[in-house]
Amino acid sequence: MSNTSAEAAVRVLAGEDELRLLTSFFVLYKTARIVAENNATFRKQAVGFYRRLAELMEDTGDISFKMISGRYFVNERMVRFDDLGLSGAASIQKEWKTLGIGGVIFNCPASQSEIEQFFGFMARIKPGQDNVESLSEQLKTAKLAGVQLLSAASLEKEKGHLSEEMRRQFRTAARSTFFTAMSVVQEVVVNTVQNREINISKTKRVVHTLIDHITRDESSLIELTAIKDYDDYTYAHSTNVCVYCLTLGVRLGLDRPRLSQLGFSALFHDIGKVKLPKDLIHKPDAFDENDWIQMQRHPLLGVKTILRNLKLGEHTARAVRGALEHHINADFTGYPSLHYQKRPMNLFSRIISIADTFDALTSGRVYLKKSIPPEEVLRKMHYQMKVKFDAFLLKIFNDIIGIYPAGTVVLLTTDEIALVLTINEHDRARPYVKIVGNRSGLLTTPEWIDLSLPEYHHRKIVRRVEPERYGLDVKDFILRD
Ligand SMILES: [Fe+2]
Ligand SMILES: [Fe+2]
Repeated sequence: MSNTSAEAAVRVLAGEDELRLLTSFFVLYKTARIVAENNATFRKQAVGFYRRLAELMEDTGDISFKMISGRYFVNERMVRFDDLGLSGAASIQKEWKTLGIGGVIFNCPASQSEIEQFFGFMARIKPGQDNVESLSEQLKTAKLAGVQLLSAASLEKEKGHLSEEMRRQFRTAARSTFFTAMSVVQEVVVNTVQNREINISKTKRVVHTLIDHITRDESSLIELTAIKDYDDYTYAHSTNVCVYCLTLGVRLGLDRPRLSQLGFSALFHDIGKVKLPKDLIHKPDAFDENDWIQMQRHPLLGVKTILRNLKLGEHTARAVRGALEHHINADFTGYPSLHYQKRPMNLFSRIISIADTFDALTSGRVYLKKSIPPEEVLRKMHYQMKVKFDAFLLKIFNDIIGIYPAGTVVLLTTDEIALVLTINEHDRARPYVKIVGNRSGLLTTPEWIDLSLPEYHHRKIVRRVEPERYGLDVKDFILRD
């Protein structure tokens, strides 16, 4: 990561103080559920939480906790949890979702007794009956002025406004991460061709950087997967598959070691192709029968390559299975045909198979030499669900890609051309976009807007446009700023 992007990533992230404060908030929230307010454990945790809160308040005044699209913010800075912290937060996140709560503000100076009363109050609520509005009223009646609840709906709406600067920083950081990953894939391929040992640590490191990025922001990496215009698509394909797999893995709530193994396997899924003739891989026309017979050797060649060129360990074992199974299909109609007892496909192989098919079909650079629009690919995949894919995983993948995935170029009702940057979970037809052109031509300074905000409701997406047909360069739109 370059210095600028590293700094950019740091500025939007919360520090240790915020992380500890939020963790102790979750712990106290849970304890209040289990024990009475005069219990010694509760009292001790409440004192600890209040001390941290008061310390931070001295620097920042009011303190806000927000949960937006599954991510946590303290004073608008994103908090990254380790797996332990995340599991503590999950049940509260679920409860808040039911109640429509998106966050809480501690007004400066909140007193310790107000804070304790607040936790006692939250412990008594009934998710089936209450909602954020009724609870806010009850807090007022109880005269707990030090604490305010925030509604989830209003936070989702203000998200677009708040974070243009944050989006810019994430996009810069994503680019650096993505292209580093691609160069690592290239290095792996070169070493494999020369039959040299592959550096596992370097590959793991790049997977970890991708995980770090996706847990704070998935859109800007997905956006980069829309670039199909590379001299050699092989490296981009493995990187794209890795990004899709990790995004799915994060949404599934896999822990970090699992994500690491999943991303690692994704990067190696097609390594067997290195052993096939280059002319076949880069053949510009559609494959004939003989080409297919050749191509279908790549899973087994992959297994051999991984076992020969990588040190054996858990990551390697996982990668072997991914390479072997990613074309097998859920009903075993794919390849290679296995003669041993048919076991259901491994979870990672099922994830890789979805990510791989999507990238291969949308790029038009892997098997079919014709690209198919994302929405059509998702439709095709849906039809093949029972045969090829895991229905549950495909549903999550559908949610990630959405109607207009990040990186899609669209035409608006105002005759403007825009690049989709982030899907809005609350209104998927109205994403956050960058307007890059209008009737008079391309804009020198693109405009960033959230189509879901009321002031932009006169602008609607008409349809996706194929940029090449208009002589537009997606790569340039994505990489320009
Ligand atoms: Fe493959
Ligand atoms: Fe592939």
